[in-house]
Amino acid sequence: MQLNAKHLLTIRDLSAPEIRELVRHAAELKAALKGPGHAKSLAGKSVALIFDKPSTRTRVSFEVGVSQLGGKPLFMTSRDSQLGRDEPLKDTARVMSRYVDAMVVRTFGQNVVEDLAQWGSVPVINALTDLYHPCQVLSDLLTVSEHKGRLEGLTYAWLGDGNNMAHSWLEAAAALGLNLRLAYPPAFMPDQEIVEHARNQGAQITLSHDPREAVAGAHVVNTDVWASMGQEDQAGERRGAFEGFTLDAGLLSLADPAAIVLHCLPAHRGEEISEEVLEGPQSVVWDQAENRLHMQKAIMEALLAPQAS
Ligand code: CP
Ligand code: NVA
Repeated sequence: MQLNAKHLLTIRDLSAPEIRELVRHAAELKAALKGPGHAKSLAGKSVALIFDKPSTRTRVSFEVGVSQLGGKPLFMTSRDSQLGRDEPLKDTARVMSRYVDAMVVRTFGQNVVEDLAQWGSVPVINALTDLYHPCQVLSDLLTVSEHKGRLEGLTYAWLGDGNNMAHSWLEAAAALGLNLRLAYPPAFMPDQEIVEHARNQGAQITLSHDPREAVAGAHVVNTDVWASMGQEDQAGERRGAFEGFTLDAGLLSLADPAAIVLHCLPAHRGEEISEEVLEGPQSVVWDQAENRLHMQKAIMEALLAPQAS
């Protein structure tokens, strides 16, 4: 498959058929990995991973994914490159493009991935910014499709911070016309432009400050940390503000009885999610984490080796 966009900076870059095709192909790669194997579609290609924030899942799943496709991953941080000594992004983008076939970037500002995409000549994949986490939500759609057999016609609940994950869910809802209910404390609302965009695209978006209202009858219940990377100094004050938003057994009992629970991890047990729910039968978080590998391979093939997918 060939994506219309050259980069994956946000789910807004993708059409509904492209998202469905990525989910289908990721499932195909997953099955192939457990069976006969798949093509080494990135043979001879190098992919730079440039990370300014910590990571377990994203880093390892991209490194392993590139290797499984026959390519070479190169991990670096801004701190140990000249970016940390203020070499401009536009120079870095052009230099890196002479060496590697793609850049996978985890950073703070969305402008960083946008600048690298603008100045470089190779695909840039957003591996999390303060604004978005598209690879995670695309992987989550694979997990929903595996457990629910469909993406449309479900009620999705988001509990907690109106953060990068919430924004990528809003964009997935926009692309696919999903019914998404978000519940957050008043001061932690998602970006208004992103909400409006999703509504204008035909998604059914419900905003509230009541987690029970969001969860009632939902088929997919999703939460995330209350303090994201870069907000560690606000963790204490956020714990107070998010009181009542813990996804525990009582709250989950309001959801559809067959609801699944998603959490992108890392989780803070006893804060945004209880131990009982995270480890309980409705939690699919380990499948969710595994699916990062398969979805990101599908994304890389679509951007770097479209003939293989
Ligand atoms: N979910 C996620 O992106 O995890 P990491 O921060 O470990 O990459
Ligand atoms: N919202 C979280 C997601 C972690 C994968 C963060 O940005 O830290």
